[in-house]
Amino acid sequence: MISMEFVTHSSYETKKLGKLLAEELRGSEIICLTGDLGAGKTTFTQGLLRGLGIKGAVTSPTFNIIKVYNLKAKSYKLKAVFHIDAYRVRAKDVLDLGWKDFAGKPDSIVIVEWAERIKKIIPTNAVWIKFEWLDEKKRKISLK
Ligand SMILES: Nc1ncnc2c1ncn2[C@@H]1O[C@H](COP(=O)(O)OP(=O)(O)OP(=O)(O)O)[C@@H](O)[C@H]1O
Ligand SMILES: [Mg+2]
Repeated sequence: MISMEFVTHSSYETKKLGKLLAEELRGSEIICLTGDLGAGKTTFTQGLLRGLGIKGAVTSPTFNIIKVYNLKAKSYKLKAVFHIDAYRVRAKDVLDLGWKDFAGKPDSIVIVEWAERIKKIIPTNAVWIKFEWLDEKKRKISLK
């Protein structure tokens, strides 16, 4: 099992790390982000989405649970990125939003903040990334 640890010193560095991960994604990945409030999950997601070619404002889906970004490039098999914030929901709510229709499909990437809260519906091959607050500007980001 590959396990990696990074310490970032600014939100810029955390976004950059997200962007680096984006380059490795091919479709069907489920990226699970865990860690406390303000640990950097949304910041990381912003970099990841940018790296996937999504332009414009990237905001947290906190108040609408899920945000869908459609990718238009015809030559590219990846069609959509789903950004879920599971902070206030239960696994069943996410299932009701069509989880099984998009999660793990070859043309989608799914990013889940607070994924531990809906762990029972997350497939075992998901990528888990843990965010820890070290100080005002420092975060430990571990990939397992
Ligand atoms: N090294 C760093 N990495 C990421 N964010 C940082 C870093 N240093 C400072 N910050 C700041 O910490 C905050 C992280 O907030 P963010 O919304 O990304 O957290 P979150 O984990 O998504 O929280 P929530 O659980 O509330 O959704 C931002 O205000 C960001 O500017
Ligand atoms: Mg967030």
